[in-house]
Amino acid sequence: MAELIDGKRISREIKDELKEQVAALKEEGKEIGMAVIQVGNDPASSVYVGNKKKACAYIGIRSESYELPEETSQEELLALIGKLNADPKIHGILVQLPVPAHIDEEAVIKAIDPAKDVDGFHPQSVGALSIGQKGFVSCTPAGIIQLLKRSGIEIEGKECVVIGRSNIVGKPMALLLLRENGTVTVAHSRTKNLKEVCRRADILVVAVGKPKMVDASYVKEGAVVIDVGIHRNADNKLCGDVDFESVEPVASAITPVPGGVGPMTIAMLMYNCVQAALM
Ligand code: GUN
Repeated sequence: MAELIDGKRISREIKDELKEQVAALKEEGKEIGMAVIQVGNDPASSVYVGNKKKACAYIGIRSESYELPEETSQEELLALIGKLNADPKIHGILVQLPVPAHIDEEAVIKAIDPAKDVDGFHPQSVGALSIGQKGFVSCTPAGIIQLLKRSGIEIEGKECVVIGRSNIVGKPMALLLLRENGTVTVAHSRTKNLKEVCRRADILVVAVGKPKMVDASYVKEGAVVIDVGIHRNADNKLCGDVDFESVEPVASAITPVPGGVGPMTIAMLMYNCVQAALM
């Protein structure tokens, strides 16, 4: 039986720590502000944005919400980001992705002042992570490091395999595990002998975006398995990239879906915003 890594509990723990820190800053007269921008009304994005605003309210961060119409031009969006960059009351700027197709996502990410880049997507933030300098780290992989540390799972010297090489999860995940002195392999859709590579892992992070792709045949006895995926199956139940029923008996610890990695992303976004205000 694997230990369940409880992302709900750990994310609450982090948010409660931040809440205390924010209250103490308020006593000193410092209020933290975050701008949350959504262009268009993609229903999934609206849910995410709503959850981010709720987390701000819980912690005591003032959130400013910008719900822009689908037809907003790139110039208008960049002008708003410029205004928020210059606003001393705003410490973090978040543009919910994806943006509509007529807007260049890269230009939007680059327009955000790296000092306010609470998503950690700016090339300067990514570059800083890759050379071990200070900067904001993408929230999902940062949250996974917290899940491991706060569950007492050592990373140093461990064989870590990350499946997936996205800019938001796979690549920063690999860099963070390396920073923690793990021995890191990044596997992906073109990896040969994927199962054998995964079976080397003491810590296996799965971010492939395919429901239940990873079953017990990918997992070494006693491995720690972190599931980044979230999907809704035919009977409306949530599942991850990992086939939980198959893997759970083999693993020593595993994240459930929901309630594993998911809640950590917002907790780390809040963490980044508090850090931004402290800079
Ligand atoms: N869309 C899906 N995940 C994210 C995220 O972490 N940040 C932003 N800005 N957009 C997203």
